[in-house]
Amino acid sequence: MEKLAILGGEPIRRKPFASYPVYDERELSALKEVLESGVWGGYNPKVAEFEQTFAAFHQCRFGITAANGTVTLETALSAAGICPGDEVIVPPVTFIATATAVLRIGATPVFSDIDEETYNLHPGRVKEAITERTRAIIPVHFAGQPADMDRLMSIAERHQLIVIEDCAHAHGAAWKGKSIGSFGHFGSFSFQASKNLTAGEGGFLTTNDEELAEIARSICNQGRRTGGAWYEHVRLGTNYRLTGWQAAILLAQFSRMPEQIERRNENAQFLNEQLSGIDLISTPFVDERVSCHSYYLYMIRLNRDRFPGITKDDFVKALAAEGIPCSAGYPHPLYKNRVFNDYKHIRNDCPAAEEMCSGSFWLSHEVMLSQPDSINDVTSAIEKIAGSIHELAKAI
Ligand SMILES: Cc1ncc(COP(=O)(O)O)c(C=O)c1O
Repeated sequence: MEKLAILGGEPIRRKPFASYPVYDERELSALKEVLESGVWGGYNPKVAEFEQTFAAFHQCRFGITAANGTVTLETALSAAGICPGDEVIVPPVTFIATATAVLRIGATPVFSDIDEETYNLHPGRVKEAITERTRAIIPVHFAGQPADMDRLMSIAERHQLIVIEDCAHAHGAAWKGKSIGSFGHFGSFSFQASKNLTAGEGGFLTTNDEELAEIARSICNQGRRTGGAWYEHVRLGTNYRLTGWQAAILLAQFSRMPEQIERRNENAQFLNEQLSGIDLISTPFVDERVSCHSYYLYMIRLNRDRFPGITKDDFVKALAAEGIPCSAGYPHPLYKNRVFNDYKHIRNDCPAAEEMCSGSFWLSHEVMLSQPDSINDVTSAIEKIAGSIHELAKAI
């Protein structure tokens, strides 16, 4: 048996994986255009062009750009009239902004458990979490897999709740042929550096509701109204505008997005097939109603119940030592962050979220956008660790 790299052996791979983000002449010439236009801010025509393009791609009538995917959540909540004291149901397994956006507008986040297989909000747990104060739900399409929008929308309609889809992981994903971001009152996207579409920073709201679109746009633009005068401010707004530079990059990056989603799917398929016989780990579960998974993350679950004595951190360190870039992911559900000690929140029982954080980790762009020979190295490294798991457990 080959010695594990973490125990002093030769790593499976020394070559770097694909780098991310990718850019070429398209980005350079788009940036030059903005430079030479002299319109560097949010009124560069490229901003409106990107808004129309990205919203239409997600089957939405309206698109509003913003500074990032945190303020888009805050803006959506405010535009939908969520007030201090209102309860908003969120998953405990997501980036912190999903929950802190609720706190920032003075409302109360209610943590409700995820489905143990998809890692998305569990509709049954959402139903149980509803009280007379509940006003909204924020489902996150975790890792790029759409949440169960059939059941979540039907619960929301029955209880007259606002739905803000957090699409920060799921650009281009679809549920039963319908694009994410087009189900709820708003879809909220992030273009932060790690995302499937990026300009380093940036955010976006999709909606099919004309009135909500106007309010959100106005909040992001100092309370101005569409067609209004420059110094006419009709509501309390702020400046969350995206710049022309970012829109230029996003338009160029967007031209590659479909082929990148396809590559991620091919690699995910390949990994699923190759890793299916290794009982140390489980490959991601995908709901059959998902018509497009955008694989922002390729989730792997360590089957700790079958292999006690080894943690996901040990496994991830061993995998990284073999030359495979991977992340240990969330160390614990969101509600365990100290910030929540100081703010009102409601925490329902979340055993699936606890389990997910203890056992699951992920592969990201470098691997998912690589060529097939690199994917073979991932499989070889996982097989190698699986074959030496007892040595690893003894050594740690
Ligand atoms: C699920 C989720 N929601 C919201 C955000 C916040 O986006 P941003 O970093 O653009 O503020 C992120 C990521 O960063 C995220 O992953």
